[in-house]
Amino acid sequence: MNDSDGTGRHKLNICVNFRAGNMLPSCGARGSRELADALEAGIAERGLPYDFNRLHCMGKCHIGPTMRISPGGSFIMGAQESDVPRILDLLQAEDLDGLAIAYPLPEQDRNLDD
Ligand code: FES
Repeated sequence: MNDSDGTGRHKLNICVNFRAGNMLPSCGARGSRELADALEAGIAERGLPYDFNRLHCMGKCHIGPTMRISPGGSFIMGAQESDVPRILDLLQAEDLDGLAIAYPLPEQDRNLDD
């Protein structure tokens, strides 16, 4: 996967949305804010070449936390704060395929993939 701007950096996007006052399934209700905080700190600590973006909904609210590396990366689904060391190791190794395999988008949700 190529970076979008030639800088060698990718964007790691994570949804931190709470839907309808926490009454509907959402990434925020499933631990994404804690995951985002830990990932952002770990990326900075390790000096990894990823820009970190907090977004509000990528349409996969019921199976989040939802992450995606852009441009054009696979979805990374369902990771929790306790997974951060493993995720950072995979990011550091630039094993983005391994990351997608470890935290896959469920088959039944792939038809919604954009
Ligand atoms: S709330 Fe995260 S994808 Fe919708």
